[in-house]
Amino acid sequence: MQTQKTQVAIIGAGPSGLLLGLLLDKQGIDNVILERVTGEYVLGRIRAGVLEQGFAKLVREAGASANMDAKGEVHDGVEIAFNDTRIPINLKELTGENVIVYGQVDITRDMMEERAKRGLETVYEAKNVEPHDVKSDSPYLTYEKDGETYKLECDYIAGCDGFHGVSRKTIPDNVKKEYEKVYPFGWLGLMSDTPPINDELIYAKTDRGFALASMRSKTRSRYYIQVPATDDVKNWSDEKFWEEFKLRMPASARENLVTGKSIEKSLVPTRSFICEPLQYGNLFLVGDAGHIVPPTGAKGLNLAASDVATLYKILTRVYKQGDKKCIEQYSPIALRRVWNGVRFSWWLTDLLHDFGDDKDEFDKKMERSEIEYFLKSPAGQKVIAEQYVGLPYEDLK
Ligand code: FAD
Ligand code: PHB
Repeated sequence: MQTQKTQVAIIGAGPSGLLLGLLLDKQGIDNVILERVTGEYVLGRIRAGVLEQGFAKLVREAGASANMDAKGEVHDGVEIAFNDTRIPINLKELTGENVIVYGQVDITRDMMEERAKRGLETVYEAKNVEPHDVKSDSPYLTYEKDGETYKLECDYIAGCDGFHGVSRKTIPDNVKKEYEKVYPFGWLGLMSDTPPINDELIYAKTDRGFALASMRSKTRSRYYIQVPATDDVKNWSDEKFWEEFKLRMPASARENLVTGKSIEKSLVPTRSFICEPLQYGNLFLVGDAGHIVPPTGAKGLNLAASDVATLYKILTRVYKQGDKKCIEQYSPIALRRVWNGVRFSWWLTDLLHDFGDDKDEFDKKMERSEIEYFLKSPAGQKVIAEQYVGLPYEDLK
């Protein structure tokens, strides 16, 4: 077995792992990333599109922001539609902040390229990655690559390996507690090289179910419709998708819809999931490895970024000041922001989706009343805006 050494071993080259790795490198902290699949495979996953300014700031600090700042679109607002009634939420006026529309694929590519440029080691197609001795002062990972087995010794392990990764499974069942809510619907997403239907995103609640009109650029649209969780992409030709999507857009927007051939179509399951704690010995869970939210509030990637911000500050203090005790702050600080994001995503999901018979007549009246209040009262809109742009990051004690 060949042995390698680093300070922080990172599992996963998704946005969490790449961002953490670049930031640690800026502080002179050595790190190696082990990724199960190829870089191209990682870049084939079309996911998030909306970045909070907190995330963008971190990407700048990490030194990978040139494309994001040049090509990302700043959005000062977002729309919520209730059938044909459109309610603009002016993020900038209500909070002084805005969000950036820039695809997860693009930000991931930018960070991969920056990592390669700096000569930082990323092992793609690392199979059977396994954390060992995470409660000891000398944890390590083992993995296989091209038929060889390797040992990677380190001080700390960052589990940035997504919901299906190995890190969370390393925390014993009698130590961790998992909270989960699985929704009876998924999102069917379609990407096309067509101009977006509207300048701002439209989150649409309709009698036919939820729909979201999002985008990646002035020439690329990303649209979603709520479908049953048991549905299948194969059931949806492009034509069928466009027909249904159009019916779920407010009437005044429909005429702007430009349809075209899909360049990607996928079904996204929706769930809320949280693991507590996010730290076990010298192992940390970061991003989707520790928590998942339904995509309705655009919070998943942004919560991953706030985890990274906290862990980055902690590891910097550990290595610069020798304060090892501060690692205990990771889980409580990260989880406070996570639970807030979970609550917002859950609330917006509940408000905007069709739950069929899962909501009785009373619940439906409550939903209606809530929509009236939140969307017509400036105070209600401010509550939505504040959450949508993201709460500030918490500092270490
Ligand atoms: P991942 O992106 O899942 O990366 C984990 C990496 O670890 C992967 O590359 C994986 O291959 C690797 N890995 C897994 N297991 C192993 C192993 N055993 N060994 C080695 N490597 C391993 N969030 C937002 O903030 N805004 C949005 O607008 C938004 N929209 C979304 C839309 C959709 C359709 C979806 C599905 C998600 C959306 N999200 C959004 C959520 C966001 O995409 C995720 O929260 C984000 O990908 C989390 O990043 P991550 O790096 O933690 O995990
Ligand atoms: C996206 O563009 O993919 C997107 C935007 C906002 C969301 C979810 C997904 O809430």
